[in-house]
Amino acid sequence: MKKMAALLGLFLAVSANAESAGSLASAKANYLLGCGGCHGIQGASNGRMVPDLRGQVGYFLNSPLGRAYLIQLPNVAFDPISDRDLAAMMNFVVFGLGGGSAPAQAKPFDAAEVGELRRHPLTGDGLSDHRAKLVEDLIARYGASPALRLYRGDRYEPASANAGPDKEE
Ligand code: HEC
Repeated sequence: MKKMAALLGLFLAVSANAESAGSLASAKANYLLGCGGCHGIQGASNGRMVPDLRGQVGYFLNSPLGRAYLIQLPNVAFDPISDRDLAAMMNFVVFGLGGGSAPAQAKPFDAAEVGELRRHPLTGDGLSDHRAKLVEDLIARYGASPALRLYRGDRYEPASANAGPDKEE
């Protein structure tokens, strides 16, 4: 009986590991499928038409509005995957691609939070103004990198379209 219990414990431990590894793999696959075409497979979009995620997207977790913005973006909110898968994918985005930019105390997303936020997508006009205000607040109050400003949305001038992303001095 004891042996059975030990075996069962081992089995549960192995499947829990397999499950978490599986969900990271499927989070990455979902990202590549739904997002990588625009944001780059490593989160570097290499152009100012689409903001970089790599090394900077975690800054949005500093403020409640920034946290909500990440899930309420139409491309994110309407991605046809479950709340649970969306939470796992966005955790990969903010903590994986975002590298050290997420604040140390930031909580991971879970299915309940994501499910609630995605019901209120930012579908109106003014998404880029909303982003600009968020970014200024993150830079002023939370020490986020000014590199967040490089994305200019509609106001982008195509003159340097083929240049790489600008480096901050
Ligand atoms: C068609 C291109 C496109 C696709 C596909 C796309 N995005 Fe985006 N994404 C953008 C653009 C452009 C913005 C800037 C906000 C805006 O104007 O919509 C953005 C903004 C973001 C931001 C906020 C970053 C910032 O600095 O403002 C995150 C996070 C994000 N996208 C994640 C995703 C994820 C996750 C997916 C896949 C489910 C995805 N995006 C799919 C183009 C895209």
